[in-house]
Amino acid sequence: MRGAFIVFEGIDGVGKTTQLFTLFHELRGRSRKVVLTREPGGTPVGEAIRRVLLDAENQEMTPETEALLYAAARAQFVSKVVRPTLERGEVVLSDRFVDSSLAYQGYGRGLDLEKLAQVNMLATGGLRPDLTILLDMPVVTALGRLEVGRRDRLELEDTDFYDRVRRGYRRLASADPGRYLVLDADREVEVLAAAVMERVEVVLGLV
Ligand code: TMP
Repeated sequence: MRGAFIVFEGIDGVGKTTQLFTLFHELRGRSRKVVLTREPGGTPVGEAIRRVLLDAENQEMTPETEALLYAAARAQFVSKVVRPTLERGEVVLSDRFVDSSLAYQGYGRGLDLEKLAQVNMLATGGLRPDLTILLDMPVVTALGRLEVGRRDRLELEDTDFYDRVRRGYRRLASADPGRYLVLDADREVEVLAAAVMERVEVVLGLV
Protein backbone atom coordinates (compact mmCIF):
# COMPACT_ATOMS: atom_id res chain seq x y z
CA MET A 1 0.00 0.00 0.00
CA ARG A 2 1.35 3.42 -0.81
CA GLY A 3 1.65 6.13 1.81
CA ALA A 4 -0.29 9.36 1.55
CA PHE A 5 0.13 12.86 2.89
CA ILE A 6 -3.11 14.54 3.93
CA VAL A 7 -3.21 18.06 5.35
CA PHE A 8 -5.94 20.05 7.09
CA GLU A 9 -5.88 23.82 6.66
CA GLY A 10 -8.03 26.76 7.71
CA ILE A 11 -8.05 29.77 9.99
CA ASP A 12 -7.92 29.32 13.76
CA GLY A 13 -11.18 28.12 15.30
CA VAL A 14 -12.68 26.25 12.31
CA GLY A 15 -12.48 22.83 13.99
CA LYS A 16 -9.47 21.25 12.26
CA THR A 17 -8.35 19.35 15.34
CA THR A 18 -11.71 17.64 15.82
CA GLN A 19 -11.79 16.55 12.19
CA LEU A 20 -8.19 15.37 12.31
CA PHE A 21 -8.83 13.16 15.32
CA THR A 22 -12.02 11.76 13.80
CA LEU A 23 -10.25 10.87 10.56
CA PHE A 24 -7.29 9.45 12.47
CA HIS A 25 -9.51 7.05 14.44
CA GLU A 26 -11.55 6.13 11.39
CA LEU A 27 -8.43 5.18 9.39
CA ARG A 28 -6.91 3.30 12.31
CA GLY A 29 -10.19 1.39 12.60
CA ARG A 30 -9.65 0.32 9.01
CA SER A 31 -6.19 -0.99 9.85
CA ARG A 32 -4.24 1.78 8.16
CA LYS A 33 -1.04 2.89 9.85
CA VAL A 34 -1.43 6.61 10.42
CA VAL A 35 0.81 9.25 11.95
CA LEU A 36 -1.08 12.25 13.32
CA THR A 37 1.02 15.38 13.58
CA ARG A 38 0.95 19.16 13.50
CA GLU A 39 2.81 22.20 12.28
CA PRO A 40 4.67 24.01 13.61
CA GLY A 41 5.89 21.07 15.66
CA GLY A 42 5.85 17.34 15.18
CA THR A 43 9.53 17.05 16.21
CA PRO A 44 11.39 18.18 19.37
CA VAL A 45 13.13 20.96 17.40
CA GLY A 46 9.83 21.93 15.79
CA GLU A 47 8.00 22.05 19.14
CA ALA A 48 10.75 24.33 20.51
CA ILE A 49 10.34 26.66 17.51
CA ARG A 50 6.57 26.52 18.02
CA ARG A 51 6.91 27.87 21.56
CA VAL A 52 8.87 30.89 20.27
CA LEU A 53 6.38 31.52 17.46
CA LEU A 54 3.22 31.33 19.54
CA ASP A 55 4.47 33.06 22.70
CA ALA A 56 2.21 36.12 23.09
CA GLU A 57 5.19 37.93 24.69
CA ASN A 58 7.08 37.95 21.37
CA GLN A 59 5.18 40.91 19.96
CA GLU A 60 8.30 42.42 18.34
CA MET A 61 8.81 39.49 15.94
CA THR A 62 9.07 40.68 12.32
CA PRO A 63 7.07 38.98 9.54
CA GLU A 64 10.33 37.80 7.95
CA THR A 65 11.52 36.18 11.21
CA GLU A 66 8.11 34.58 11.58
CA ALA A 67 8.16 33.16 8.03
CA LEU A 68 11.68 31.78 8.43
CA LEU A 69 10.90 30.14 11.77
CA TYR A 70 7.83 28.40 10.33
CA ALA A 71 9.95 27.25 7.39
CA ALA A 72 12.72 26.03 9.74
CA ALA A 73 10.26 23.96 11.75
CA ARG A 74 8.88 22.63 8.45
CA ALA A 75 12.30 21.52 7.17
CA GLN A 76 12.76 19.43 10.31
CA PHE A 77 9.21 18.09 10.07
CA VAL A 78 9.55 16.99 6.44
CA SER A 79 12.85 15.19 6.89
CA LYS A 80 12.17 13.61 10.29
CA VAL A 81 8.44 12.85 10.09
CA VAL A 82 6.80 13.14 6.69
CA ARG A 83 9.30 11.50 4.35
CA PRO A 84 10.17 8.54 6.64
CA THR A 85 6.48 7.84 7.27
CA LEU A 86 5.57 7.95 3.58
CA GLU A 87 8.52 5.70 2.79
CA ARG A 88 7.11 3.11 5.21
CA GLY A 89 3.85 3.21 3.22
CA GLU A 90 1.93 4.90 6.03
CA VAL A 91 -0.44 7.85 6.07
CA VAL A 92 0.63 11.25 7.43
CA LEU A 93 -2.23 13.41 8.71
CA SER A 94 -1.03 16.91 9.44
CA ASP A 95 -2.62 19.90 11.07
CA ARG A 96 -1.24 22.57 8.63
CA PHE A 97 1.61 22.69 6.09
CA VAL A 98 3.04 25.14 3.50
CA ASP A 99 -0.34 26.71 2.71
CA SER A 100 -0.48 28.06 6.27
CA SER A 101 2.65 30.10 5.50
CA LEU A 102 1.30 31.31 2.15
CA ALA A 103 -2.03 32.25 3.76
CA TYR A 104 -0.80 33.74 7.07
CA GLN A 105 2.63 35.18 6.22
CA GLY A 106 1.82 35.85 2.54
CA TYR A 107 -1.79 37.02 2.32
CA GLY A 108 -2.05 37.91 6.03
CA ARG A 109 1.26 39.69 6.69
CA GLY A 110 1.80 40.79 3.10
CA LEU A 111 5.13 39.04 2.45
CA ASP A 112 6.00 38.33 -1.18
CA LEU A 113 4.37 35.02 -2.18
CA GLU A 114 7.11 34.10 -4.64
CA LYS A 115 9.84 34.51 -2.04
CA LEU A 116 7.83 32.56 0.51
CA ALA A 117 7.37 29.76 -1.98
CA GLN A 118 11.15 29.67 -2.54
CA VAL A 119 11.96 29.50 1.18
CA ASN A 120 9.41 26.75 1.57
CA MET A 121 10.83 24.87 -1.40
CA LEU A 122 14.10 24.74 0.54
CA ALA A 123 12.20 23.41 3.57
CA THR A 124 10.16 20.75 1.76
CA GLY A 125 12.35 19.76 -1.17
CA GLY A 126 9.19 20.17 -3.25
CA LEU A 127 7.09 17.64 -1.30
CA ARG A 128 3.39 18.38 -1.68
CA PRO A 129 0.34 16.90 0.05
CA ASP A 130 -1.75 14.36 -1.86
CA LEU A 131 -4.82 16.11 -0.50
CA THR A 132 -5.42 19.34 1.40
CA ILE A 133 -8.72 19.70 3.20
CA LEU A 134 -9.59 23.36 3.65
CA LEU A 135 -12.15 24.00 6.37
CA ASP A 136 -13.73 27.33 5.52
CA MET A 137 -15.92 29.46 7.76
CA PRO A 138 -16.70 33.17 8.25
CA VAL A 139 -13.99 34.79 10.35
CA VAL A 140 -16.32 36.06 13.07
CA THR A 141 -17.77 32.59 13.58
CA ALA A 142 -14.34 30.93 13.75
CA LEU A 143 -12.75 33.49 16.07
CA GLY A 144 -15.83 33.43 18.28
CA ARG A 145 -15.04 29.81 19.07
CA LEU A 146 -11.60 30.60 20.50
CA GLU A 147 -11.20 31.06 24.22
CA VAL A 148 -10.62 34.78 24.77
CA GLY A 149 -8.17 34.59 27.66
CA ARG A 150 -5.96 31.92 26.07
CA ARG A 151 -5.16 33.25 22.61
CA ASP A 152 -1.64 32.74 21.28
CA ARG A 153 0.37 35.40 19.43
CA LEU A 154 -1.30 34.76 16.06
CA GLU A 155 -4.80 34.47 17.51
CA LEU A 156 -4.47 37.99 18.90
CA GLU A 157 -4.55 39.39 15.33
CA ASP A 158 -7.63 41.35 14.25
CA THR A 159 -10.51 40.37 11.97
CA ASP A 160 -9.00 42.12 8.92
CA PHE A 161 -5.88 39.97 9.20
CA TYR A 162 -7.98 36.81 9.36
CA ASP A 163 -10.14 37.98 6.44
CA ARG A 164 -6.99 38.24 4.31
CA VAL A 165 -5.84 34.80 5.48
CA ARG A 166 -9.21 33.26 4.67
CA ARG A 167 -9.29 34.84 1.21
CA GLY A 168 -5.72 33.62 0.65
CA TYR A 169 -6.65 30.06 1.45
CA ARG A 170 -9.61 30.15 -0.90
CA ARG A 171 -7.44 31.52 -3.67
CA LEU A 172 -4.82 28.80 -3.18
CA ALA A 173 -7.51 26.12 -3.33
CA SER A 174 -9.22 27.49 -6.42
CA ALA A 175 -5.90 27.66 -8.27
CA ASP A 176 -5.45 23.88 -7.91
CA PRO A 177 -8.88 22.25 -7.31
CA GLY A 178 -7.68 18.68 -7.92
CA ARG A 179 -5.54 18.72 -4.78
CA TYR A 180 -8.07 20.38 -2.46
CA LEU A 181 -11.33 19.60 -0.77
CA VAL A 182 -12.94 22.84 0.37
CA LEU A 183 -15.69 22.39 2.95
CA ASP A 184 -18.08 24.82 4.57
CA ALA A 185 -17.01 24.09 8.15
CA ASP A 186 -19.97 25.78 9.80
CA ARG A 187 -21.88 22.48 9.88
CA GLU A 188 -22.27 19.51 12.19
CA VAL A 189 -19.11 17.63 13.04
CA GLU A 190 -20.52 14.32 11.72
CA VAL A 191 -21.61 15.82 8.40
CA LEU A 192 -18.15 17.25 7.87
CA ALA A 193 -16.43 14.03 8.90
CA ALA A 194 -18.48 12.09 6.33
CA ALA A 195 -17.51 14.54 3.56
CA VAL A 196 -13.85 14.27 4.57
CA MET A 197 -13.95 10.47 4.60
CA GLU A 198 -15.62 10.26 1.21
CA ARG A 199 -12.72 12.10 -0.42
CA VAL A 200 -10.00 10.41 1.64
CA GLU A 201 -11.30 6.99 0.55
CA VAL A 202 -10.69 8.00 -3.03
CA VAL A 203 -7.20 9.34 -2.32
CA LEU A 204 -6.21 6.20 -0.40
CA GLY A 205 -7.79 3.89 -2.95
CA LEU A 206 -10.19 2.43 -0.34
CA VAL A 207 -13.16 2.46 -2.76
P1 TMP B 1 -2.41 25.98 15.76
O1 TMP B 1 -1.61 24.78 16.06
O2 TMP B 1 -3.34 26.40 16.83
O3 TMP B 1 -3.06 25.92 14.42
O4 TMP B 1 -1.39 27.21 15.80
C1 TMP B 1 -0.51 27.50 14.84
C2 TMP B 1 -0.61 28.96 14.52
O5 TMP B 1 0.47 29.30 13.64
C3 TMP B 1 -1.89 29.34 13.80
O6 TMP B 1 -2.33 30.61 14.25
C4 TMP B 1 -1.46 29.47 12.36
C5 TMP B 1 -0.03 29.88 12.45
N1 TMP B 1 0.81 29.43 11.35
C6 TMP B 1 1.36 30.36 10.48
O7 TMP B 1 1.12 31.55 10.63
N2 TMP B 1 2.19 29.93 9.48
C7 TMP B 1 2.51 28.61 9.30
O8 TMP B 1 3.26 28.25 8.39
C8 TMP B 1 1.92 27.64 10.23
C9 TMP B 1 2.24 26.18 10.07
C10 TMP B 1 1.08 28.09 11.22
